[in-house]
Amino acid sequence: MFEVKNWHSVDDYIGAALISKEEAQEETLAANARAGLPAIDVSPPQGKLLYLLACAIGARHVLEIGTLGGYSTTWLARAVGEGGKVVTFEVDAHHAEVARANVAREGMSARVDLRVGPALEMLPLLESERAQPFDLAFIDADKPSNAAYFDYALKLSRPGALIIVDNVIREGAVADASATDSGALGARALFDAVAAEGRVEATAVQTVGAKGWDGFLIARVR
Ligand code: SAH
Ligand code: DHB
Ligand code: MG
Repeated sequence: MFEVKNWHSVDDYIGAALISKEEAQEETLAANARAGLPAIDVSPPQGKLLYLLACAIGARHVLEIGTLGGYSTTWLARAVGEGGKVVTFEVDAHHAEVARANVAREGMSARVDLRVGPALEMLPLLESERAQPFDLAFIDADKPSNAAYFDYALKLSRPGALIIVDNVIREGAVADASATDSGALGARALFDAVAAEGRVEATAVQTVGAKGWDGFLIARVR
């Protein structure tokens, strides 16, 4: 059996080899820790994956649900480039305040539209106000709402858009019928919804690393 500490040191190796100091956002992670935020940001290799996927499809408009301290937000903001936009939702005012400062330090404020409040209450507003559909959505907030967030992301996205959902494996709980915690139930409801949705093609990939055993669901809008 492999140990989590090995996964962590391999993430350190990947980071040292392929992720520059400017990219790594160490100050953001330190500021989050000082402010008492939970260390549940995507890992640096995962953040760079989000960035690379966004770059690969030329994403200019990104939707994020679950900002925390703005770590994944900043990776996505780098990808959209000058004039691009990341609309990100955060329910916790303290998280949002820390995120605002981090995003500003990274020089990304002009590209980030941070909205504070419960995402499910605020997404309908976005639906009515938006002219331009999203190229990519990253869903990483409260897990029981994943299927509902997926519906909104689909509704608000262009054909060819990517919808990426974090934390869908939860140490295998998704596929363990005896696991009935809200994370496992939320992940299963998401898989069911995606499987029944003819407008997307999708997969999920398990990941190991600094964040243990988890994974992403990745869907492409037809
Ligand atoms: N995407 C971030 C991590 C997000 S952690 C990163 O990788 O850097 C999940 C965040 O979702 C937390 O900050 C939490 O406060 C927020 N959240 C939980 N429920 C929410 C809701 N209903 N609406 C908006 N944000 C929510
Ligand atoms: C948790 C939430 C996350 O978004 C994550 O990436 C890891 C853990 C959590 O709530 O435990
Ligand atoms: Mg997450």
